[in-house]
Amino acid sequence: MLFRLIRAAAIPAALLAAVLAPAGAARAQGSLNLYCSVQLEWCQAAANAFQRDTGIRVAVSQKGSGEVLAQLRAEAGNPRGDVWFGGTGDPHLQAAEENLSAEYRSPSLDQLHDWAQKQARDSRYRTVGIYAGALGMAFNPELLARRNIAAPACWRDLLDARFRNEIQMANPQSSGTAYVMIATIVQIMGEDPAFEYLKALHRNINAYPRSGTGPIKSVARGETAVSVSFVHDAVTERLGGFPVSSAVPCEGTGYEVGSMSIIRGARNLRSAQRFYDWALTPAAQQLGAESKQFQTPSNRATPVPAEAPRMADIRLIDYDFAKYGASAERRRLIERWDREVNALPR
Ligand code: F6P
Repeated sequence: MLFRLIRAAAIPAALLAAVLAPAGAARAQGSLNLYCSVQLEWCQAAANAFQRDTGIRVAVSQKGSGEVLAQLRAEAGNPRGDVWFGGTGDPHLQAAEENLSAEYRSPSLDQLHDWAQKQARDSRYRTVGIYAGALGMAFNPELLARRNIAAPACWRDLLDARFRNEIQMANPQSSGTAYVMIATIVQIMGEDPAFEYLKALHRNINAYPRSGTGPIKSVARGETAVSVSFVHDAVTERLGGFPVSSAVPCEGTGYEVGSMSIIRGARNLRSAQRFYDWALTPAAQQLGAESKQFQTPSNRATPVPAEAPRMADIRLIDYDFAKYGASAERRRLIERWDREVNALPR
């Protein structure tokens, strides 16, 4: 039909080519809207490299894991994002269960570590693990020395009066990191004792920032002495020249399987699938370390950066991702935290 109309109007061939070429070329290259829940440096490096490799234009929007989940819900009738890259695994599982993400089995799945493939199986192939990282405590040794306070070594140390007003953790409504902390404490102590712990901890908290890396950036700047953070984020701050150390709690700790999902109803589905396959390659995964992010990559062939915390040496709990990534459970625990902990005066 289009051709017939054009012939009828007798547009010269050269002009026709000039009119059609830019639109055709743009369509052939395509575009991609990336919702990104790792730090902006990595999001941008991934977007630039993918764009260079494929010609597909990438627009990046960086937000915390809980915030992206809320956005996917809000946009479910009219999705604007194509791929959700990074962020803790529980909200990706929740998105899968709520039918907010699309099933996709990358041909590279069998190149991934078991923990990353398990994340795919648990979600019926609506998400996949792209990295792992252990939760811990970060602190500013210079600030602690100045205040004559011993560093924390165990979860229970964070309740000590010496840390009154000295600790930050993120808000679990917006931050996946903070939810991993709550789910970890529940798994270590049992739910009711865990909430007693979180209430007692609340007395020592000076702020619950929105983003999971907000607290450790405050530690780096000397605004707070201690944060609940992933230990790989402490490496990033240290390499940035800030006085930040970290400890893995003596009781054991939880961890994240950082994940990636294709958004259901993605307008650029083919570009989304190409990005997904690309992001699982060792070359793409190395962009994490090149952006000074030190999670453990999920492709077995991606070198683990020398600076990354060694997961095998960390006392990890057997984190129950299926249970704590279930929609009703995650929602319930966050609501309980908001009602029973966040509402308390400090
Ligand atoms: O990008 C650093 C990081 O700690 C990731 O490892 C993690 O998946 C993400 O932040 C979580 O961010 P948030 O807690 O803001 O959801």
